[in-house]
Amino acid sequence: MEIVIVPDAAAGGELIATAIAELFTRKPDALLGVATGSTPLPVYRALEAKVEAGTLDVSRARVCQLDEYVGLPAGHPQSYREVLLREVLEPLGIPGERFTGPDGAAEDIAAAALAYDRELAAGGGVDLQLLGIGTDGHIGFNEPCSSLASRTRIKTLTEQTRADNARFFDSPDEVPHHVLTQGIGTILEARHLVLLATGAAKAHAVVQAVEGPLCALVPASALQLHPHATVVVDEAAAAELRLADYFRATYAAKPDWQSL
Ligand code: F6R
Repeated sequence: MEIVIVPDAAAGGELIATAIAELFTRKPDALLGVATGSTPLPVYRALEAKVEAGTLDVSRARVCQLDEYVGLPAGHPQSYREVLLREVLEPLGIPGERFTGPDGAAEDIAAAALAYDRELAAGGGVDLQLLGIGTDGHIGFNEPCSSLASRTRIKTLTEQTRADNARFFDSPDEVPHHVLTQGIGTILEARHLVLLATGAAKAHAVVQAVEGPLCALVPASALQLHPHATVVVDEAAAAELRLADYFRATYAAKPDWQSL
């Protein structure tokens, strides 16, 4: 696992956007997995700037969702599909046909979950999956004690996660209790995992995921199993890392030709 400590969220966004731009240069029809929430927004704004500057060509790019609320009607402004259309697809000029996600409004949620895993596999798999991390260590919406081998399925949000997400809704009661999320086993199939964590509220989850034991109680610790996982943290989120100086020295000495 590579840990990169950046000065702030904007620097993290730029670094990851550069890695995504390199991916689309190498493989124009790559499948990019995107996350919602506040953390990845600097990545999306940096990607938008690259498209506007003409340094990123997304004319064949494909995009897929990590997770979706269950029970919000299709088109609800806080459904993750709508959020990603607003924050990623429209600003980058990627049409909806090249965007897919789990159907949280499906009548048969179990069938929708299975169909989504199959669709990802049939599409050749995810090339780069962008991840955030919950204050309780979740990735996607794999809450603590999710199976490390789990596939896309319905999960119940913890009250902590519902409270963390209440800022996006008019009232805390409106935050759905259930989500459809790629499982940890599904996420681990992506070729490159890039987790971004910013702010002091994430410092404890980050140290547990990176330096703690591999355990289902901290779902993000599953990144330790992945052969190509990158964790980008700002100074505040890095505050509890015991090996911070080593991570800084390693990144500073990294050869120029080696990207994330
Ligand atoms: C949402 C997702 C979640 C968030 C996490 C952090 O698609 O994957 O794991 O990344 O809840 O959310 P923020 O970034 O809002 O702190």
